[in-house]
Amino acid sequence: MTGGGKIFESTAIKGVEFRSRVIRSSIGGRYAFYDGAVNPAWAHFERRFAEHGVGAIISATITVNDRRWSPLEYPKISQDRFIKPIREGVRAVQALGCRYILQLGDPGYHTQAGLFSEREDEMSSSSGFDFFFGYRSARSAMSIAEVEQAVDDFAQAARRVREAGCDGLEITASKGYLIHQFLNPAINRRTDRYGGSVEKRFQFLREIATAVRKSVGPDFLFGVRLSARDFNYTPLDLRWPPVLPLRHWWFGNDLPETLGYARQLKALGVDYLHISNGYGFPNPKENPGDGYPVREIGMFMNSIRHLSRKAAIRAALINSIPMPILRMIVGIGWRYEQGANLGDAATFRREVGLPVIANGGFQQRSFIEDALASGSCDLVSMARPLLANVDLLDQFRAGRDLPERPCTFCNRCTARTTIGPLGCYEPKRFGSQDEMERQILQWSAPGEA
Ligand SMILES: Cc1cc2nc3c(=O)[nH]c(=O)nc-3n(C[C@H](O)[C@H](O)[C@H](O)COP(=O)(O)O)c2cc1C
Repeated sequence: MTGGGKIFESTAIKGVEFRSRVIRSSIGGRYAFYDGAVNPAWAHFERRFAEHGVGAIISATITVNDRRWSPLEYPKISQDRFIKPIREGVRAVQALGCRYILQLGDPGYHTQAGLFSEREDEMSSSSGFDFFFGYRSARSAMSIAEVEQAVDDFAQAARRVREAGCDGLEITASKGYLIHQFLNPAINRRTDRYGGSVEKRFQFLREIATAVRKSVGPDFLFGVRLSARDFNYTPLDLRWPPVLPLRHWWFGNDLPETLGYARQLKALGVDYLHISNGYGFPNPKENPGDGYPVREIGMFMNSIRHLSRKAAIRAALINSIPMPILRMIVGIGWRYEQGANLGDAATFRREVGLPVIANGGFQQRSFIEDALASGSCDLVSMARPLLANVDLLDQFRAGRDLPERPCTFCNRCTARTTIGPLGCYEPKRFGSQDEMERQILQWSAPGEA
């Protein structure tokens, strides 16, 4: 099997043509200067994907808020001065025939704002306590004025995306970020116009989608990344206090609610949906893998232990529980499934009638071909397999069904994203540690192949 197939058939959404139907999903990393401006390592990182035939790149979640940031050295688009370096990188990607879609987000209480723990780190839809998610010991409810400011932040950032010359814009209403914190009934316990019913939980996203569409105009490609189902019970978290009905606390939004959100988004002028699953990042429904890397999660917990009492307790626990027990606890709910969210993507495509990008656990050419040919989705987005094999599409073109050294979905890259350079950290894929290190450095070294 060589050459053609659905993967390499071009397609268009809202007049934006994609040369192939596999696109790069968001990959966030420490590739900005300390003020949040993207740096040459970012431009180099993005360009490498464009060189190997993906139809588009969806950027990392880039924060719209100047103070809510997750974490230091991740990129921002919260001021006009951030536009210029983004524009330069985007042009280089486009010159290679690849589209660039910039993803906007606000981390809410998943903020690790900067040098010290700050009040901004705990801002969310409601007050409450999550043991594993968030950095501060508790989260706090935003005032109405703060919510309205957040809506305006999205609108301003959307204008900047267009000014930066991007081909499209996506907002993340998943990942456990601020919009998701309003949608999720276990987190949103408000009783004002932003909470108390499924309609009111959607109000924040409704205002953002309306403001963003107005800001970029009717002709600009605009998508939303949505979690089909929240699965609040996984990964393991202690979330307090519980809410009634317990289904809201244990599970969160299910398909009837999220299909309702999607239909309303379509009516508000959204052009496509990017479908993943679960609440929070990482989570087993979004980043499927057999277990979660314990050593790496320990590194992460230790690197943030100074941020709150809860962070210190988490680190102490992870440092003292014996490895085999820890592996069992941390691994609860993790399981690899190929194209894990494809079934839900197909449901959204069929029920809502918008183009859909499917995400999560794709890697095999024949499986992707079937997903596209069966009409389950319009595009497939990938992150970890492309980090493992940036030339994956070249390998498909040359006739391979799976790459020679496939991604094992070990999630070491996911766990390391906030603490080190991006790259593949799976020792099994390399002949030596030197070889692995060279590969990691290639990702962040402008001038390297
Ligand atoms: C290192 C790394 C960083 C990521 N950063 C982001 C991000 O900034 N925003 C986002 O929405 N998803 C992010 N993701 C999730 C991916 O976009 C993708 O949804 C997930 O990895 C599942 O797809 P895959 O199985 O193809 O890896 C990241 C994933 C990885 C591995």
